[in-house]
Amino acid sequence: DMGGHDTYMHKEISEQPDAVDRVLRGRIDERFATVRLGGLNLDAREARTIRRIKILGCGTSYHAGLIGAGLIESLARVPADAEPASEFRYRNPVVDPDTLYIAVSQSGETYDVLAAVQELKRKGARVLGVVNVVGSAIAREADGGMYVHAGPEVCVVSTKCFTNTVVAFALLALHLGRIRDLSVSDGKRIIEGLRRLPEQIQQILQAEAEIKKLADQYADAKSMMFIGRVRGYPVALEASLKLKEISYIHAEAYPASELKHGPLALIEPALPTVAIVPDDDLLEKNRAALEEIKARSGRILAVAHQEQEKADHTVVVPKNEPELDPILMGIPLQLLAYHTALSLGRDIDKPRNLAKSVTVE
Ligand code: F6R
Repeated sequence: DMGGHDTYMHKEISEQPDAVDRVLRGRIDERFATVRLGGLNLDAREARTIRRIKILGCGTSYHAGLIGAGLIESLARVPADAEPASEFRYRNPVVDPDTLYIAVSQSGETYDVLAAVQELKRKGARVLGVVNVVGSAIAREADGGMYVHAGPEVCVVSTKCFTNTVVAFALLALHLGRIRDLSVSDGKRIIEGLRRLPEQIQQILQAEAEIKKLADQYADAKSMMFIGRVRGYPVALEASLKLKEISYIHAEAYPASELKHGPLALIEPALPTVAIVPDDDLLEKNRAALEEIKARSGRILAVAHQEQEKADHTVVVPKNEPELDPILMGIPLQLLAYHTALSLGRDIDKPRNLAKSVTVE
């Protein structure tokens, strides 16, 4: 049942304010400015002994893991990174007893992720799951974890589950941070930011007509470049994946800082760039990248907290706390991919060559 929407993807994008509300519900502990996560099976003493966090997932879940790693590093100050589960599995990784491993999956059935979890467990590692489907294989195999409570996701490409997974990582990062060195005031600041998310997402969804107009203008592109820096880079990766999957337009994502090391050679009027430009300590650096693109006559669509002078178009999104801004900046780009695919007449809920869950190697 699409509940009045033309596609499941549209329905699922629209459900995000409620979905985010669900992942937060019952977990916030105001008194200690922290989060209660009953299913982790990790007490405070154990949490303090973690020296590293390694996040594993595929596709969109891997991208959510990249943002998650950034959140964990900034809030909990534990070194963290994310890697595609399949790559991890095939390179005979060093499994370290002081590392906490986290497997991320919407379906909980992705074979490469499940196999990585089984291999890690065989070697004695502790593995948590950040999973949407309750009781799925990865959820059962993990030592503990969190459900992301996005609700059923029917469209082949992931939208609301991506957003909820990132919010789940923010909760985990806050939880670990408050056990370690995150102050009460920073804990409160993040909690207040989390509480603002559903309404701010709603606000972004209200700009759909404007984003549709932009999508119609960019739909003739043969290829698109997505750029971001630090927190913005995984947002660019995910936006580029979403566009490829449903519109079949070729897209690449690069860290803005890497442009001058090669991809700048591609920039010309026929290759539009989507730039993630949050109003944070990297704003000036990001503006400089826009200038470099403009100097090569590249068209620019910015997603930013304020109108960007160098951009041809800016989608202005509401500002939250800098750590949480990537969550909001991804939303208009889901709509951009959606309306681009729609204007090209694609089968949005069932893109060619793709399956919702990849249970084979
Ligand atoms: C992207 C997409 C895929 C999945 C990937 C992992 O829109 O749907 O990239 O994210 O196959 O799937 P899960 O999260 O079920 O493990």
